[in-house]
Amino acid sequence: MEHKKKIVVVGGTGLAGSAVVRTLSEQPVDLVVASRATGVNSFTRAGLEEALDGADVVIDATNSSYTDEEAALEFFEVSSLNLVNDGRAAGVSHHIVLSIVGVEKLANSEGGYFRAKALQERIVAESGVPYTIIHSTQFFEYLRSIAAFATRQGRVTVPDALVQPVAVEEAAKVISTVALSEPRNGVLEVAGPQRGRLKDFIRFDLASVLDDRQVVADASATYFGELPTDDLFLPGPSAQLSDVTISEWLETARAAQPDLLHVSWPFP
Ligand SMILES: NC(=O)c1ccc[n+]([C@@H]2O[C@H](COP(=O)([O-])OP(=O)(O)OC[C@H]3O[C@@H](n4cnc5c(N)ncnc54)[C@H](OP(=O)(O)O)[C@@H]3O)[C@@H](O)[C@H]2O)c1
Repeated sequence: MEHKKKIVVVGGTGLAGSAVVRTLSEQPVDLVVASRATGVNSFTRAGLEEALDGADVVIDATNSSYTDEEAALEFFEVSSLNLVNDGRAAGVSHHIVLSIVGVEKLANSEGGYFRAKALQERIVAESGVPYTIIHSTQFFEYLRSIAAFATRQGRVTVPDALVQPVAVEEAAKVISTVALSEPRNGVLEVAGPQRGRLKDFIRFDLASVLDDRQVVADASATYFGELPTDDLFLPGPSAQLSDVTISEWLETARAAQPDLLHVSWPFP
């Protein structure tokens, strides 16, 4: 009988991980959804050895707090070491980690969260386990959380930065293809098709739920504690670009959630 690849999606119940699980469940693979909700804890190692038993591929789509910097550093260090060490022992031949476009530059300023993500990448790259690091831009689905973090007294203030966000299902397709391919032992960038100001993408998303919070761009505003330069969030020339625009993404979401409003891009 042909060997089915066993793929363990750690963080497989989260925003990105669940999209990867949806995509990979259409493939002839043996899929394991691992998170605390399914009894697997990558930080304490509870249930981890059992989940990784016989695994060929690990996809790390876990996350920790964006705002508690020390907790993020501790989480990504301990969890990543557990995943690569237990993965190596189980014979994992491809470790995939989901990270963020611009993470190195963000980490070089002060940000605990981004330093934690950079540390996670370093642990994976130095583990000796063949790996691929996926750098994605912000997900359309995450814009509302960015707005929530950036709201003070009812007003959303974000950096005046250019971004190129992507639909999470599209990033998940790339991650799934990577999981079925040979390790790159390097970084692959994923982004959406449109470049624009972060404030305009957030205004578009808030308008779809009739949220009339004012959204302003401020050159001195920070992003989760970081002061980004204009090109920080933008992918390089060899990124894989999805062709799903934010309007197409919203229309697909509206088919399932008719209370979402139609919004035009660019937003007036
Ligand atoms: N959101 C974005 O726009 C974006 C863009 C680019 C890259 N990323 C990166 O993608 C990764 C995933 O982000 P996300 O937005 O999908 O996060 P999320 O929705 O918060 O999901 C996090 C996942 O991690 C699991 N988890 C947390 N602690 C765990 C533990 N100790 N053991 C096992 N599983 C644990 C959670 O499930 P349980 O609570 O059940 O454990 C959940 O399944 C992050 O590392 C982030 O940096 C995100």
